[in-house]
Amino acid sequence: MDVIKSTTAASHWTALQVMQDAPVIPVIVLNDVAHAVPLARALVAGGIRMLEVTLRTPQALACIERIAREVPEAVVGAGTIRNAADAQASAKAGALFGVSPGYTRGVGQACRDAGLALLPGVATGSEIMMAQEDGFTELKFFPAMQAGGPAMLKAWSGPFFDVKFCPTGGVTLQNAPEFLALPNVVCVGGSWIVPADAIKAGDWGRITQLARDTAGLKKPG
Ligand code: 3PG
Repeated sequence: MDVIKSTTAASHWTALQVMQDAPVIPVIVLNDVAHAVPLARALVAGGIRMLEVTLRTPQALACIERIAREVPEAVVGAGTIRNAADAQASAKAGALFGVSPGYTRGVGQACRDAGLALLPGVATGSEIMMAQEDGFTELKFFPAMQAGGPAMLKAWSGPFFDVKFCPTGGVTLQNAPEFLALPNVVCVGGSWIVPADAIKAGDWGRITQLARDTAGLKKPG
């Protein structure tokens, strides 16, 4: 098997550790660099320190840099990694893990080279097989609700018994328990704990509360 190689020291966080830290990885969109540090502190205060800042705005990399520098209690990652340049820029900005909406060998290799633990996105059996071929066994199921929800994960637990998932996309406080009850789910991802209106208004107290509310989502057993 042609497993892609790492050419630098890896981030000291593994993808499994990133997934196991809390029941939810927040999917963050930041439009203003000034929001990065207070938002990260609000989430940490609510018990969530693994933070996925998506590369969906021109400010995203600067936000990752600020959080990495000013909020040492947080572990900042980059989301929406779609190519090698995204991976390199994210690592340079201080990201310690990466999340991608899909999987390509180029993204897998670039993350390894940059020392970023990667949660590759998959939505089909073939994509799982490609990621596994390259040595990735902790995957993001995206978009989870749209692509089959908990029933899809149950179906995958047979052939892909050795893969763990972080379902993301359409996950809410209400439906998260159904995902977390599945043996092949370690955590979920979601944007509901970082609502755009709360960020815009600087309502950090609301975000801390939304983060605290997820503490009740612990995996059973
Ligand atoms: C993502 O962007 O990774 C997911 O779309 C987040 O989905 P949500 O906004 O439905 O939580």
